[in-house]
Amino acid sequence: MTSASVDLTLRDLSTRGAADAGCSTRLLDAPWDVDATDPGYGPGASMADPIPAGAPAQGEIPQEYRDASAEELDRRILAAKAALGDRALVLGHYYQRDEVIRYADYVGDSFQLATAAKARTEAEAIIFCGVHFMAETADLLSGPEQAVILPNLAAGCSMADMADIDQVEEAWEQLMEVYGGESEDADGLMPIIPVTYMNSSAALKGFVGRHGGIVCTSSNATTVLHWAFARGRRVLFFPDQHLGRNTAKAMGIGLEQMPMWNPRRPLGGNDAQGLLEAKVVLWHGFCSVHKRFTTAQIDKARAEHPGVRVIVHPECPMPVVDAADESGSTDVIRRAIEGAEEPTTFAIGTEINLVQRLAAAHPQHTIFCLDPVVCPCSTMYRIHPGYLAWVLESLLAGEVVNRITVGQDVAEPARLALERMLSAKPAPARTTTER
Ligand code: 13P
Ligand code: SF4
Repeated sequence: MTSASVDLTLRDLSTRGAADAGCSTRLLDAPWDVDATDPGYGPGASMADPIPAGAPAQGEIPQEYRDASAEELDRRILAAKAALGDRALVLGHYYQRDEVIRYADYVGDSFQLATAAKARTEAEAIIFCGVHFMAETADLLSGPEQAVILPNLAAGCSMADMADIDQVEEAWEQLMEVYGGESEDADGLMPIIPVTYMNSSAALKGFVGRHGGIVCTSSNATTVLHWAFARGRRVLFFPDQHLGRNTAKAMGIGLEQMPMWNPRRPLGGNDAQGLLEAKVVLWHGFCSVHKRFTTAQIDKARAEHPGVRVIVHPECPMPVVDAADESGSTDVIRRAIEGAEEPTTFAIGTEINLVQRLAAAHPQHTIFCLDPVVCPCSTMYRIHPGYLAWVLESLLAGEVVNRITVGQDVAEPARLALERMLSAKPAPARTTTER
């Protein structure tokens, strides 16, 4: 293990009351022990979120992978990768643990990984060390003969699961009643444009594609909102209320014009007048990792480290983003640290694996996580080297396991929504959430 290993820190935290702070020490259990228990997101920041019925589960993998030591898995993964060569591309999201990221051919944020999947046409298989919606996106953007593999099918995203296609279709129907249907007004604008965050199922990306909408990531949300307002009077933004609110607020939209849509209530808990006056209708979704960050943590960091630079992810609640010095996607955070010439103290509001890795890579700086309790993203943490060894050796033996495929009916409009995002150009006014 390296000094950036989150596993190492978890071991330490297990004696320091992580469980009291809402983060189970079951994180130290092998993931296959967790996968064999009741369906759930597993220990970590999302563990209290309700998991939808029918969420993918991971079957048991062969005993040899569950029993293998870290050293044996390392040897087998490297040997399988060497034998597969260019046939297999391993992608790793920044939030993966170090014990997995070291095998990635390409590491990035969700936008960069989507473009890498699209660009690497020579790979027969793309092994996606990330979560389910990212693997679906890779399948949408890669060639039809390329297989996208998610090493553990239980690696979902609790935020993505907070909006499902039935709820969104139902919300749209109600909104159309308020806005009088899907037709342009005298200025050529639609009443509302649906925008889905990359962190959503392919079905939702297909929905926005069918209804003149677009996908965004945390690195291009401002560009995408400008794109949407060039075509419509309003935006329905799902599933992350915080990214939607933080981005719209930075564009000068007032909070009173951003009603929340609660899918369990008629008209989302709003009245028709409020929806007519809205600019951005925000879905009631959130990330349980980024919800852990508070303004009290920022105050403490500033008191204890005068001159500290606070950078947070835009999935954090608005008061946290407002109190920070900067906000941006995982890659924006990485580049801000890489670009600092003088030794600097950074307090970071994002997932712990990335923070620990940045701290290890930049010893000239002091870098720490705003959240004092190491509580990783439950679902990113479900990818373990044992699963990676299993999918790679299966591939070598001619068997594709854990393939993620998006059905043709959804794939076509979902691809359209993604292509709109990839070709959207930044508007002249840029904010800190832009790359
Ligand atoms: P990025 O788009 O910044 O990679 O974030 C993805 C994610 O899941 C954040 O929680
Ligand atoms: Fe989903 Fe949050 Fe984990 Fe990102 S960090 S994958 S949004 S639960």
